[in-house]
Amino acid sequence: LPSPGDRLAEEAAGVIRERTSIVPSVAVILGSGLGGVVDDITDAESFAFADLSGFPAPTVPGHQGRLSLGFLGGVPVAAFRGRIHFYEGNELSTCALPVRLARVLGATTVVLTAAVGGIDRSLVAGQVAVGVDQINMMGANPLRGWRRPDGSPPFVDMSEVFDRDMANLAVERARALGIEVVRGVYVAMPGPTYETPAEIEALRRLGGTVVGMSVVPESTAARALGMRVVGLFSVTNLAGDAATHEEVLEMADRAATTTRRIIHELLPHLADRSGSSGP
Ligand code: HPA
Repeated sequence: LPSPGDRLAEEAAGVIRERTSIVPSVAVILGSGLGGVVDDITDAESFAFADLSGFPAPTVPGHQGRLSLGFLGGVPVAAFRGRIHFYEGNELSTCALPVRLARVLGATTVVLTAAVGGIDRSLVAGQVAVGVDQINMMGANPLRGWRRPDGSPPFVDMSEVFDRDMANLAVERARALGIEVVRGVYVAMPGPTYETPAEIEALRRLGGTVVGMSVVPESTAARALGMRVVGLFSVTNLAGDAATHEEVLEMADRAATTTRRIIHELLPHLADRSGSSGP
């Protein structure tokens, strides 16, 4: 597998292996205000990011910075409450550390949740967008400098970043539950500022549906590592309108219930097909 050339994920996995033998099949990364999505995790062993090699301490309100290994609906999961952001000053490949760690621990699927601004004018706050593709506007590729074991760069196929079958299933199941969802293209901006109205107009013309400041470093690394990716994005505000982090957190908090229901519906299917996805 390709790697940025350090052993941080392996070292962090070593810390975890001293305390639990749970092998997660699915990793879940929970964004701003979405930590509550895995409140019902059972038999969990929990780790502060500060105790995991290479993990920077979280600096964002609403991000706990904890990894819990446990069971959700009977499925072994690695749940990251909080993530590592580019806008906090971290390298893009550091932002991918949770995904790398999840892979070393055994996860073959990753569910990426995030609060997002709606670019598409038909979106309303509270809706969930299921990821079908992404546009990286962060200014660099998270795999820059990574190498395959033979020393070559990882030219990763990105024709299907978000697993199509799982995205279809997410939409189908959510609608069956009466949850309003759309399929969406996630645009990643570097942050930490919210976008100007002109930037949102530009991103709309580029084909973006929702915008956020994360996801892409993780989804890109996950594809490089042969993992299946599911994106569930909570629309917290209309991008380009006045926004504050507090409003985003509050909306994400309310949307967390919806995201939790979709994840619980999907989990048995995600676990079933574990290992079936290749790079
Ligand atoms: N822009 C970028 N990231 C976001 C937004 C937004 O409007 N809302 C939540 N995360």
